[in-house]
Amino acid sequence: MTGAAAILSALNAAVLTVDRAGRVTSFNPAAESLLNTGAPQALGRPLSRILPADHPLFGMIETVREQDVNLTEYEVSIETPRVKLPVVVAQLSPVSDDPGVVAVMLVPMTLAREIDRHLAHRGAARSVGGMAALLAHEIKNPLAGIRGAAQLIEANVDAGDRELAALIRDEADRVAALVNRMEAFAGPEGLDRKPVNIHEVLNRVRRVSEAGFASGIAFVEEYDPSLPPVPGDHDRLVQVFLNLVKNAAEACPGEGGEILLRTVFRHGERLAVSGSGRRVHLPLEVSVQDNGRGIPEELHRTLFDPFVTGRQGGQGLGLALVAKIVDEHAGAVAFESEPRRTVFRVLLPVDIEEGGVR
Ligand SMILES: Nc1ncnc2c1ncn2[C@@H]1O[C@H](COP(=O)(O)OP(=O)(O)OP(=O)(O)O)[C@@H](O)[C@H]1O
Ligand SMILES: [Mg+2]
Repeated sequence: MTGAAAILSALNAAVLTVDRAGRVTSFNPAAESLLNTGAPQALGRPLSRILPADHPLFGMIETVREQDVNLTEYEVSIETPRVKLPVVVAQLSPVSDDPGVVAVMLVPMTLAREIDRHLAHRGAARSVGGMAALLAHEIKNPLAGIRGAAQLIEANVDAGDRELAALIRDEADRVAALVNRMEAFAGPEGLDRKPVNIHEVLNRVRRVSEAGFASGIAFVEEYDPSLPPVPGDHDRLVQVFLNLVKNAAEACPGEGGEILLRTVFRHGERLAVSGSGRRVHLPLEVSVQDNGRGIPEELHRTLFDPFVTGRQGGQGLGLALVAKIVDEHAGAVAFESEPRRTVFRVLLPVDIEEGGVR
């Protein structure tokens, strides 16, 4: 293979070129896998065979060709019957010694950017923390009074009014339950950090779930035995995975629901978090995957914010709490979702001193 071709095929980014007539003239292996199309099917054929004819990329190619400029577009989505990539970065350049030919490079939005976005938005959970403490304090006492009064009335009135008093009592209970959950955001200051065996945490979550909300669902475990202990707060970590498994169970189909719990230790992997100027080392990955309906597109941007829910009767606090606790562990959380495959990944650091990497 000659120089340029060898470089193209070694690249991780998908690169393709399109000639003046809109035909594909080169298509590297990364493009084959990103667009799920083999080079033989692509070469010499119009690009519109691979991408829908109204895809914004065609307009961009036209602009590059006409104005002889480079073009970069962030957050281009590629949706075809064969692939679904919600966000890729597209970079287009004219090929200087070949008039009319445009080179297109497509890079999927990386997990790092996904995490970066999450880090940028986690302030929301913090501000809720302060408010929750205040609310809990201001609401709980009067609420207990209201409930007690309703009970007294209930015992002393006729049947018709008894129903109304019961209504007051039930509503008071509902508000109390909400306040209790919000109080979890105020949480104790600082974590009770000890080396935690994540597999033990996951087993507990699995047992609790199977005994209740996930009784009809099959669990599959893929555990990495080399996983070192995490310096963390055992009970708070249980809460994280319980919330994720509960969401997964709620999204699962009535029959054939499956939840996959997976742990991986990524030796030596470092993640540069763009924008923040920080590099984080989060080698421990714990993921919860389900084969449910997927997360509605319109929730994606704000999913970890408090009170965002797509569920009848949902409070929208589960994931906000997950984000907060993971944040307290100096970790990160990200998700990918499509129908029948939704994955939440929790990435955690390993404190070598405390965790004792084996
Ligand atoms: N695994 C999943 N599959 C599909 N949708 C999900 C999944 N996880 C979360 N969601 C969506 O995200 C929304 C927010 O989840 P979150 O746990 O924060 O709140 P909730 O489940 O609605 O309420 P609760 O406070 O009781 O947990 C859910 O209502 C659901 O629409
Ligand atoms: Mg939930």
